[in-house]
Amino acid sequence: MIRHKDHFHGSDLEKIEQVYGIKKEEITSFSANVNPLGISPVLRRTLSEKIDAITTYPDRDYVSLRKCIADYTGTDLEHIIVGNGSTELISLFIQIEHPKKAVVIGPSYSEYEREIALGGGTTLYYPLREEDGFFLNTADFISQLKDDIDLLVLCNPNNPTSTCITKKSMRLILDACLQHGIYVMVDETYVEFADNMEQITCVPLTNYYNNLVILRGTSKFFAAPGLRLGYAVTGNRDLIKMINTRKNPWTINSLAAIAGEIMFQDEAYIRETKTLISAERRRMYELFSARDDFKVYEPSGNFMLVKILKPHLTSQDLFDRAIRRAMMIRDCSTFPFLDDKFIRFCFMMPDMNDALAACILED
Ligand SMILES: Cc1ncc(COP(=O)(O)O)c(C=O)c1O
Repeated sequence: MIRHKDHFHGSDLEKIEQVYGIKKEEITSFSANVNPLGISPVLRRTLSEKIDAITTYPDRDYVSLRKCIADYTGTDLEHIIVGNGSTELISLFIQIEHPKKAVVIGPSYSEYEREIALGGGTTLYYPLREEDGFFLNTADFISQLKDDIDLLVLCNPNNPTSTCITKKSMRLILDACLQHGIYVMVDETYVEFADNMEQITCVPLTNYYNNLVILRGTSKFFAAPGLRLGYAVTGNRDLIKMINTRKNPWTINSLAAIAGEIMFQDEAYIRETKTLISAERRRMYELFSARDDFKVYEPSGNFMLVKILKPHLTSQDLFDRAIRRAMMIRDCSTFPFLDDKFIRFCFMMPDMNDALAACILED
């Protein structure tokens, strides 16, 4: 059996090809958390007609794209800033805030800690507890906030736990952070997949809280990680000004800007995605909940965290078993607070999910 020391990111299909000798085209990635429907059909039909757009520089202010995003998210054009994937905006925001001490609610996406460390800051983790089903204990969390913390980062719904924090709890957190002078960055990369999105998204709170910035992208919900288009929403005009001052011009190319405008308006595709993911999430959650050899945590995103309760079975064993059948799951042993009993997989098309469930659940 091949033991991999390093974990494979959801996009590391080239590495898998090398290690396991399976062609990357044949692998179904249950670890990239990308919408299985592929790109918007309207985008597929129309983008090529716009190819001449690359003969001119994009609008420096991306007004038309930002207007579309403002309509899509229900906020003001002035509250939107666009970036080369949410990754560029995470990086810019952390560079500007330059936190000495940041708190991340974890386990979570590793990029926050990396960016904070690059700026010379320290990351402290507030652990989500397995006993609480990885849901945040808001009162306990708030009681631990201190004035020497500069930045709080949280992902909602959270990667890898898929658990969410409601807007009601977020208000309490934001109030406490205001009192302590803490900036709050909320990564909502997965929020559009949630059934109760309106109760989770903090976009409406940007009208009331000056210490809040929300990050979103198109990589997951719109199945376009290669497009590199993300955006941030904040009511803090000074912050937008500072990001714009630091940001390189034209980091979103003309075609990506046009693609964004097309897909944010493809309502049929957006509806279809939500319906598919909602149904598959319910089905897979119920399937795994009924088992006494696995434990699942109520998912809000398009993926699910699973704990293996079988004594001699590890996350590496299941990764290995699935990849040999050309299905790639995420071995979560490298996440802080998780170990080799945790795996994560996203919801793909129903027949693929059936195949993965059969593979994981077999004796
Ligand atoms: C929580 C989270 N935020 C951000 C990203 C990166 O997004 P983008 O492709 O928009 O830079 C990922 C990618 O895996 C993610 O899981």
